[in-house]
Amino acid sequence: MRLTILHNRDADALEEDPGREAREDVERVASAMHGVLTQAGHVVDLVPVERDLSAVADALQRRRADLVVNLCESLNGDSRGEMLVPGLLDLLGVHYTGNSAFTLALALHKNKAKELLRARGVPTPDFWLLESTDALKNVDLPWPLIVKPSREDASMGIDFDSVVSDRRALSRAVDRVRRTFKQPALVERYVKGREIYVPLLGRPLAALPLTEIRFGGVFTGRLPVLTYRAKWQADSDECRDSPSVAARLPPKLEARCVEVATAAFEALEGRDYGRVDLRLDEDGQPWVIDINPNCDLHPQAGFARAAQAAGHSFAELALHLVDLAWERRNGDQASRRTRPAAARRAAQPHRDLLTGRGLVRARAHRRRPAAE
Ligand SMILES: Nc1ncnc2c1ncn2[C@@H]1O[C@H](COP(=O)(O)OP(=O)(O)O)[C@@H](O)[C@H]1O
Ligand SMILES: [Mg+2]
Repeated sequence: MRLTILHNRDADALEEDPGREAREDVERVASAMHGVLTQAGHVVDLVPVERDLSAVADALQRRRADLVVNLCESLNGDSRGEMLVPGLLDLLGVHYTGNSAFTLALALHKNKAKELLRARGVPTPDFWLLESTDALKNVDLPWPLIVKPSREDASMGIDFDSVVSDRRALSRAVDRVRRTFKQPALVERYVKGREIYVPLLGRPLAALPLTEIRFGGVFTGRLPVLTYRAKWQADSDECRDSPSVAARLPPKLEARCVEVATAAFEALEGRDYGRVDLRLDEDGQPWVIDINPNCDLHPQAGFARAAQAAGHSFAELALHLVDLAWERRNGDQASRRTRPAAARRAAQPHRDLLTGRGLVRARAHRRRPAAE
């Protein structure tokens, strides 16, 4: 198969990027994927996504790959651009691995994702979205609280000052998020307790072995959080003292965690792979704190290690992600063929929009419907 791996190359896009390490990491994931997919006999290109999306569109059209492996997590140093890449791929009529623009957009609008979870009865901590410091007076949640950017991931903007126990600290933390990230702050009830990750993979989705962050040393006597430093600065105390380990849970609790995580992922129409982050309260109730439909696939990071614990090498994981996308592509084509002609005619304007009229030529593998 001809594959194109898309990855963001934007670690130097901003003068001061609070997420530089996370963005650099994506290039290493892309290179690891390139290695194993090439080894498996595929013809693989790496295409970095930089400032100019039309250059990416041109590169994709020239290559005419069978599938794109989409690893993009941001655009121009802005996580909010993540969702535009699968949007572009949809526009070009190119199939790709992983989650849709819709799912990525929802996950990165954490307040919207939480509203959906609430509506579906999936437990997630109470919260406020603060667009201005004036709105601080509305916050009526019990202390302690955590303040995080509402449109980021990878622990960006999270440090020990993100957990607050009084109004002054709350105001400072909200102000900092708004100034640094130019976006509303999410203020959420802090859940004391174990931090459990549920990696989900496949169609239908199944959980890989659950992992847990074991907070020690530097976190003792504090309300622990997986800070940006803990996640990305390998030489920091915070990183050393927060290893990811296999989660040992009683079977009933483990099953409940998987149930809650799956319900959360499905609420966002998640597909193929992703990771749901939970906290367990003192009654053993899991609360969804984060949904990651584009989680880190680095061979040494949690998702790939969970796959390995289930007996799947990184190469097998990569090939499985490609297979899932390939099956979807074939399924989409099969459903196109079997639709009645009248329905195809009705869908015409939409299809034109998706294939971009003049912007993209219809791809060779797409059979023209008989009605055209
Ligand atoms: N409600 C919460 N209660 C306790 N800790 C939390 C809560 N929300 C986030 N955290 C801590 O902050 C970290 C980062 O927050 P998260 O919501 O996962 O954001 P990101 O999308 O940046 O990963 C989590 O790994 C966890 O340690
Ligand atoms: Mg998280």
